[in-house]
Amino acid sequence: MISKKMEDAINKQINAELYSAYLYLSMASYFEASNLKGFANWMKVQASEEMEHAMKFYSFVNERGGRVVLDAIEKPPEKWDSPLAVFEYTYKHEQGVTSAINKLMDLARAENDKPTEILLQWYVTEQVEEEASASEYVEKLKLVGSSGNGLMMLDHELGMRKSG
Ligand code: FEO
Repeated sequence: MISKKMEDAINKQINAELYSAYLYLSMASYFEASNLKGFANWMKVQASEEMEHAMKFYSFVNERGGRVVLDAIEKPPEKWDSPLAVFEYTYKHEQGVTSAINKLMDLARAENDKPTEILLQWYVTEQVEEEASASEYVEKLKLVGSSGNGLMMLDHELGMRKSG
């Protein structure tokens, strides 16, 4: 059985993952409005991955005899200055998520909660990937600068991303 303290902390993280989904969907919407369909696709795939992150925690809490309690999801931003600004925001956001996952790991260790520790290892690995992909697009967008052609090529690349 999961402890109340761990249950509360994971419930908080479920909210954070749902917020991430909401944030990326808002970014997708920003890109749809800018006619960057490939960028929008990438963000929609990202949003659905965040839903999966939330659901993985959701199932885990239930399997451990805990209770998932959902809270209100904060309103995400709706506008950014440029595609580069969106990816810089994404990178910073993912660094924050990494730090939240690391704190959850500290708590699991302090409580000697092995199942939670093992679950969190998946998230630790996932965060390495999340930060790397956001940072990759920050760098690519910097290289592209104000080139319309470069942006179109990146839009094509991001349009290839598929779920799963
Ligand atoms: Fe659920 Fe983007 O980390």
